[in-house]
Amino acid sequence: MARHLITSALPYINGIKHLGNMVGSMLPADVYSRYLRQRGHDVLYICATDEHGTPAELAAKERGVPVAEFCAEAHDAQKAVYDGYALAFDYFGRSSSPQNAEITQHFARRLNDNGFIEERAIRQVYSPADGRFLPDRYVEGTCPHCGYDKARGDQCENCTRVLDPTDLINPRSAISGSTELEVRETKHLFLLQSKLQNEVEAWVARHEADWPQLASSIARKWLTEGLHDRAITRDLDWGIPVPADTWPELAAEGKVFYVWFDAPIEYIGATKEWSDEDPENRDWKSWWYGPAAQDVRYTEFMAKDNVPFHTVMFPATELGVREPWKMVDYVKAFNWLTYYGGKFSTSQKRGVFTDQALEVLPADYWRYFLIANAPESDDSSFTWEHFTATVNKDLADTLGNFVNRVLSFSKKRFGDEVPAGGEPGEPETRLGEEIARLLAEYEEQLEALQFRKAAAALRALWSAGNSYLEEKAPWLQIKTDQEGAALTLRTAMNLIHLYAVVSEPLIPAKAQVMRAAFALADDKATWVTPAEAKSLTTLAPGVPFTVPPVLFAKLTDEDLETYKQRFGGASE
Ligand code: 2FM
Ligand code: ZN
Repeated sequence: MARHLITSALPYINGIKHLGNMVGSMLPADVYSRYLRQRGHDVLYICATDEHGTPAELAAKERGVPVAEFCAEAHDAQKAVYDGYALAFDYFGRSSSPQNAEITQHFARRLNDNGFIEERAIRQVYSPADGRFLPDRYVEGTCPHCGYDKARGDQCENCTRVLDPTDLINPRSAISGSTELEVRETKHLFLLQSKLQNEVEAWVARHEADWPQLASSIARKWLTEGLHDRAITRDLDWGIPVPADTWPELAAEGKVFYVWFDAPIEYIGATKEWSDEDPENRDWKSWWYGPAAQDVRYTEFMAKDNVPFHTVMFPATELGVREPWKMVDYVKAFNWLTYYGGKFSTSQKRGVFTDQALEVLPADYWRYFLIANAPESDDSSFTWEHFTATVNKDLADTLGNFVNRVLSFSKKRFGDEVPAGGEPGEPETRLGEEIARLLAEYEEQLEALQFRKAAAALRALWSAGNSYLEEKAPWLQIKTDQEGAALTLRTAMNLIHLYAVVSEPLIPAKAQVMRAAFALADDKATWVTPAEAKSLTTLAPGVPFTVPPVLFAKLTDEDLETYKQRFGGASE
């Protein structure tokens, strides 16, 4: 039994996420956590909402509520959606928690003691009408290169050139529209990442061989470009305050830490939130600090845009603290899920949001489809045509139909208990061997965090049951060989029970329904090894069973049209 710490990138607070966000972080982390728990490992799966920063402030402003209130509500709304997908976090925290503030301030003090933080004066745009400094992206104006009149102070969306707010012609505040902007000098804390370059490089070199290529190549690219010193404070009302004991002047000016400084620290903060709820039984430090955490294997899940922060910047912070904090062992990174080949877009309302998807179909349909098409080696495209075809073929036909067909037929012919039948013969031995081989393949892919391949192996396990049933044809067998037909059905029911156990990481709700069909004393989904699975005899004759309702609905052409109407089809 090993100890596994698992985190998925913290979803930003300012809105419900789309399917692409979920497949690149939380969902695969949940599948992996569930699998490891079933295998008896000690798993701690942590996530949280990422709550600081200007977008949260502006979203609250738009709604006309205080930002703390906005975040509390938005956190609950996101949590409800994740519950809907059965994401089994051990804890889903909030980066605005006091625990995160305490640890973030501690990190900053330590970095300062170790000579990795410096106060520097910078010139920044100030808007008297808004009563605040404006982050670069909240200064808008005309691009000096292409004349686009809605260019942002950090970049022109039209010609993609990187800009400085002072480059803009006729600059204005994106918040109030005010054009009376000033440039003022203000002091900020800078993290001297350049001083940590060599250490981060050495640390990456020790780990990257284990990482997927996507993660290591992005880390390498950033290291090659060189680590730059970065401002880690901002002039905002909402955020973790700079500690007054160390920087009284900046604290008095109301400076807070930059959201990307405190967000990864919240992985630790949320673990402390978890621990503080039951301090007698939970020890957050044993997962994160010192020798106690040495046997922990830490896996992070994220989309590729988050990789630099997790492979370079957060490690630089952890190294600079000069305390034995646990660092990541494995970085699982994902490409993008596209919507008909284009971007999911919140502003243009293209794509499917996680809450809307649940209005269409239950979570397991989505969980299976997304994992089977996870954007691992490349971007992958969501289309309603592909989604409905996959649901129909894999879930409705291959798995669902098998379960219902076997159980209904057996009930009709042999009653409410698993029938006895004769001794297993050559087809059963062959089936057992095939099942053991496919299960070993499935395990191997899950261990390797290869989610598409794992889903393919699971699908092959389901198919093997169908092939066996076609071969034995108990509906014909029964006419001449009752015992033989009973053996076939008992063997098939054992397959159903095996599917119920091993499908749990991908489709937990339906797996539970399949397990519950059999009146077994032990309803735990304890993992079955390939060697155990081979004999297909977990269910003894005489175990009572019931026939569950149809597991997966078959989607019609009409359904497909309705989905496309509602969400928009091919890219406009
Ligand atoms: O990209 C994002 O949505 C960020 N909120 C991810 C943060 S991950 C971590 F560092 F907290
Ligand atoms: Zn431009």
